[in-house]
Amino acid sequence: MDSFRQTPLLLSVFLSILSFSASFTPNMSHYIDCGATSNTLVSGFFPRTFTADDNSNLLSAKNTFFLSNPNNSSTGSLYSTARVSTSNFKYSFTMLTNSSNVLRLHFLPFSNQSYNLSTAKFSVKALNSYILLDNFTVTDTSSPTIKEFFLWTDSSDLAVEFIAQNNSLAFVSAIEAFTAPPNFLDGQVPLTIDNAELNGDLVKQVLETVYRVNMPGPLIIPQNDTLWRTWVTDDPYILNSAASQNQTVSTQLKYNPPEGSSEEIAPQTVYNTARIINTTTDQFDSNSAFNINVTWSFTVKSGYHYLIRLHFCDIISKTNSLDTGLVFTVYIMDYLPLINGLKPTAYTTFASEPFYLDFITPVTSTQKITVKISLDRTRSSIRNALLNGLEIMKVHNLSLSGTNNNSQSKNSRTIILGASIGGAIVLALILSCLVLVLCKKRQKKPASDVKETQVMWSPMTGVVNSSVDTSSKSGGLTTIGASPRVDLGLLISFNHIKMATNNFDKNNIIGVGGFGEVYKGVLNNGTEVAVKRASSRSNQGLPEFQTEIEVLSQIRHRHLVSLIGYCDERSEMILVYEYMEKGPLRNYLYGTDLPSLSWKQRLEICIEAAKGLHYLHTGYSQTIIHRDVKSTNILLGEGFLAKVSDFGLSKLGASIGETHVSTAVKGTFGYLDPEYFKTQKLTDKSDVYSFGVTLLEVLSARPVIDQTLPREEINLAEWALLCQTRGQLEKIIDPRLVGKINENSLRKFWDIVEKCLKDYGMDRPAIGDVLWNLEYCLQLQETEVRREPYEDSGTSVAHFPEVPCQKDAVKCNEPRNWNFR
Ligand SMILES: *[C@@H]1O[C@H](CO)[C@@H](O)[C@H](O)[C@H]1NC(C)=O
Ligand SMILES: *[C@@H]1O[C@H](CO)[C@@H](O)[C@H](O)[C@H]1NC(C)=O
Ligand SMILES: *[C@@H]1O[C@H](CO)[C@@H](O)[C@H](O)[C@H]1NC(C)=O
Ligand SMILES: *[C@@H]1O[C@H](CO)[C@@H](O)[C@H](O)[C@H]1NC(C)=O
Ligand SMILES: *[C@@H]1O[C@H](CO)[C@@H](O)[C@H](O)[C@H]1NC(C)=O
Ligand SMILES: *[C@@H]1O[C@H](CO)[C@@H](O)[C@H](O)[C@H]1NC(C)=O
Ligand SMILES: *[C@@H]1O[C@H](CO)[C@@H](O)[C@H](O)[C@H]1NC(C)=O
Ligand SMILES: *[C@@H]1O[C@H](CO)[C@@H](O)[C@H](O)[C@H]1NC(C)=O
Ligand SMILES: *[C@@H]1O[C@H](CO)[C@@H](O)[C@H](O)[C@H]1NC(C)=O
Ligand SMILES: *[C@@H]1O[C@H](CO)[C@@H](O)[C@H](O)[C@H]1NC(C)=O
Ligand SMILES: *[C@@H]1O[C@H](CO)[C@@H](O)[C@H](O)[C@H]1NC(C)=O
Ligand SMILES: *[C@@H]1O[C@H](CO)[C@@H](O)[C@H](O)[C@H]1NC(C)=O
Repeated sequence: MDSFRQTPLLLSVFLSILSFSASFTPNMSHYIDCGATSNTLVSGFFPRTFTADDNSNLLSAKNTFFLSNPNNSSTGSLYSTARVSTSNFKYSFTMLTNSSNVLRLHFLPFSNQSYNLSTAKFSVKALNSYILLDNFTVTDTSSPTIKEFFLWTDSSDLAVEFIAQNNSLAFVSAIEAFTAPPNFLDGQVPLTIDNAELNGDLVKQVLETVYRVNMPGPLIIPQNDTLWRTWVTDDPYILNSAASQNQTVSTQLKYNPPEGSSEEIAPQTVYNTARIINTTTDQFDSNSAFNINVTWSFTVKSGYHYLIRLHFCDIISKTNSLDTGLVFTVYIMDYLPLINGLKPTAYTTFASEPFYLDFITPVTSTQKITVKISLDRTRSSIRNALLNGLEIMKVHNLSLSGTNNNSQSKNSRTIILGASIGGAIVLALILSCLVLVLCKKRQKKPASDVKETQVMWSPMTGVVNSSVDTSSKSGGLTTIGASPRVDLGLLISFNHIKMATNNFDKNNIIGVGGFGEVYKGVLNNGTEVAVKRASSRSNQGLPEFQTEIEVLSQIRHRHLVSLIGYCDERSEMILVYEYMEKGPLRNYLYGTDLPSLSWKQRLEICIEAAKGLHYLHTGYSQTIIHRDVKSTNILLGEGFLAKVSDFGLSKLGASIGETHVSTAVKGTFGYLDPEYFKTQKLTDKSDVYSFGVTLLEVLSARPVIDQTLPREEINLAEWALLCQTRGQLEKIIDPRLVGKINENSLRKFWDIVEKCLKDYGMDRPAIGDVLWNLEYCLQLQETEVRREPYEDSGTSVAHFPEVPCQKDAVKCNEPRNWNFR
């Protein structure tokens, strides 16, 4: 019996030894035993030799000396000596250029009769500009104090300087400086909370580890950790441990880097244990609203941004099935960043695969970071939640001399913030150049290097910008990019999109277009989005994808569907748009059970769509031709607010693959400008033609091509023109509208349609003229309603009133043979 019970333990020891054999070897490493005269071997599963800094050329200073702990048997031999000085001294470590590095400083104060290291007060500066520790003193003499930092080096030199305060000492017991494991900080794009914003990529920030916790335990000591870290237990931080329970497994876990976690990101000991919620089925059954939060609270210094890294491994349901896996909720700072429910299977491939999520949050006045887990009763069949580990890192501000080591990202940010709103066009150019540079850079790299160019993405920024729109009623035009920040923040990681759509759950599909499938999703901040995922993509990727996206992202208008972000990771090409709850205009015209729209509503929708198109044609520095105007590309939001969608995509669509081009052309055949068809020359007047067909569709509420109809009626545009010459225009009017349209309004409307459908682009009006005339149409309809409130508008007009002509607008035709009854 006993030996049987021992098996898991033996197995885990054996597995630990296995992982030891594959231990991480940094590209560049310096392990220094400061003040020592001979090297020190630190044993354990991951042993290392710390070299003596005595006579080492790493150290540059005149007045340093070493101090020996007279009482050295009580602590590890690494701490039996210290490098000490009453003035400044500096270590210079050679690291890889453009690399992320770990710097660990060890301090254990002691004293002999002449010096007392507990009284030392000093500062530590790195890379000649970052104050890592300020007026620092170490009072704990019982165990070493270890300070850990992550530093980006864009040269080969990592300088660490110790600055003694007046009449005081500076000292250090040991130093580790080594290249960070691959993807340690750039493995994913963090989710940002509360408008958090970093000055460039996370990997280029100076970070200081402030908490590293293994939920619920055990304590992991450096000798037992894959990256020589200490992971403490969560007992001091958990607020309601009675609501929780320990969960432990002893199985070998399957890591799946680079998207998932790796042994260097956190060892198995972290993922093998978790804090879960202590619940019973009874509690559930007796109260449908029953829930429990398990809460941790961490005291931090306010005025900084913090990286919060949560480690998860679903050791409860132990499945990789999307349907039966665990789903739960995580709160950070009482926000709800994972509003969709955190579904481990959306992040992992294997059952019980470890993964982690990064969040960036500012901490202003609270001085606390709280993390809660709770049940998601609506989504999960398994009623629980878990947290395996947590790390909190402080993002250091640049201080003092201001010498900028992260020039790349910071300079570009400076340019952008410096650009005024009025200079939006200049800004667009700068951004395009930036994108081009990035794309060029990327092209040279292998596909696996894609993450290199990822930028911080803040969903909040995206939302702020799409709602910034303060268009005036007259023209509906707005200036571009009220806040330029969004343009650098459009990249969304594949993982986040996966989460937003529940791993592209088929139930979330809201449409299929030429570009691919469209899913409804919810971002971490609660914003509903439409996610368009290209169904295939050439292996070498599309440099023009990014360029195009950056231009599209500049285009913000009340009547254009905003691009919120995109994903260009792995072999994915995904666009994220604002979600339009009522869907395409077509659904309100025919083919569904949706209520029919009144003539007034239809006119308003057409006017709004025309405003969107007008902005595309004239509102930007260059004319943007939509190429695919149709009723399915006019989307309706709350209160039937209409927005034009999918602009600029046809070109992209054409690059994806030939099958898509042909389907796209086929799908929009009835709208196609005949002149474009003949000459292959696309102009803004091609959009006007398609818009004219769309107006007809709105009037008649039938498909523009309907093969089931008699031959002459198949093509709506042809049929309408035929009806007009026969004086039977009433045949094309939606039966639900008959008798409800003011005749003047209708005549004006037909007038516009006819002009739009002219064979030659030069004979068609500009979209601005179409817009004005549609507004006039609406006026005519409204006037009638106001004049005869008790009568069905448009039924009792005895004669055509004068229809005044707008200069340069659609010319008013002579009254024709109208025949409405
Ligand atoms: C070490 O550096 C080389 C070349 O600079 C690189 O190919 C390799 O991936 C690096 N290895 C690690 C573990 O960072
Ligand atoms: C030496 O270590 C022992 C045990 O930790 C401690 O009681 C004693 O005070 C230490 N002596 C000095 C001089 O630090
Ligand atoms: C610390 O003590 C060990 C024996 O326990 C001794 O070998 C070593 O020399 C001592 N180190 C120093 C710096 O005094
Ligand atoms: C480091 O990065 C900069 C900016 O990206 C680049 O210009 C430089 O060539 C890189 N150096 C090395 C050695 O990779
Ligand atoms: C304390 O250490 C310093 C530096 O090693 C040494 O010069 C001094 O003599 C020591 N004092 C005593 C009382 O041992
Ligand atoms: C060293 O300084 C600390 C702080 O001032 C003091 O508490 C401690 O007693 C001193 N130790 C010795 C041996 O003087
Ligand atoms: C550090 O000490 C110096 C001098 O005592 C003082 O001027 C400075 O403000 C201190 N810095 C902090 C962060 O307390
Ligand atoms: C350092 O000491 C000098 C002289 O004792 C004094 O003038 C200066 O103000 C001190 N600086 C700080 C920051 O305490
Ligand atoms: C849970 O883990 C903590 C930390 O390791 C430990 O103190 C506690 O006793 C454990 N509780 C249970 C119920 O196993
Ligand atoms: C380190 O790992 C070994 C083997 O798993 C274990 O026996 C030992 O207790 C661990 N040490 C600590 C402090 O956890
Ligand atoms: C779980 O809750 C029950 C009562 O609801 C309690 O008796 C038990 O001790 C709790 N378990 C833990 C590990 O706290
Ligand atoms: C859990 O915490 C969230 C966020 O603070 C709060 O809205 C919710 O009411 C809490 N639930 C329970 C059961 O305490």
